[in-house]
Amino acid sequence: MHRFIEKIKNYEEKPYVIKNFLDPREIADFVKLYDELPIEVNNQRQKIVKKKWSKKYFPKLQSAYNEKLKSAIGEFFMDNPKNKMGEDSLGLFQESFMPVSLHVDTGFDFDKIIYKQTLLPLTEEGETVIFKNRFYGCSTTFSINEKELAAKGYNKRSSEHLELYNKKPFDKATHEKYLKHEEIDNLKGLEIEMVYKWKLGEILIFDRTNLHCSSSNLNGKKIGFTTSTIRNEIN
Ligand SMILES: [Fe+2]
Repeated sequence: MHRFIEKIKNYEEKPYVIKNFLDPREIADFVKLYDELPIEVNNQRQKIVKKKWSKKYFPKLQSAYNEKLKSAIGEFFMDNPKNKMGEDSLGLFQESFMPVSLHVDTGFDFDKIIYKQTLLPLTEEGETVIFKNRFYGCSTTFSINEKELAAKGYNKRSSEHLELYNKKPFDKATHEKYLKHEEIDNLKGLEIEMVYKWKLGEILIFDRTNLHCSSSNLNGKKIGFTTSTIRNEIN
């Protein structure tokens, strides 16, 4: 459990989208950057390709991105895991062909004041569902599926979310519309805050304590860039 929960809660707010966060030239640079970056992970099981933005790639775009992020969310420190070469990273590009399942990106260091998670779409394809429900443990993928619970990955696997919220059955029509890839019983007690339809140039900003997942509406593939931030610097 995170130590500075009260401080973390003080920074919490509803998710929001900034339109025209990037101009067309910056969007093109991001696409080029993605092409040039080396592959960090190619996960066949989850059909995901991951690339991390290390400091040696596109430094000018990095400063522009950092500055824009600062004007959007105020003071922050980056909190992205290093790449496999041990280099600092500004965030993670994920190319996925399957919807990402229910999880939270709270990290593993309970001394950090976790802050915002950002999502920058690099395709017009893609939809993200943010729930009102929050979690203050470590980064976890929430599931009731035995196979998924036994799977190894960066996130912890757990079904503990079902004990935290009310156990109200999830609405069938909403499940059918956005969340077919999740078992409906895995969504008990969850309430949707926002369904974000990806759009180039925009950025979605939400709290790291918000449960979220992809929507099941995915034709082909999507590419998104995510950044994790904290308020206190810890080294
Ligand atoms: Fe996430």
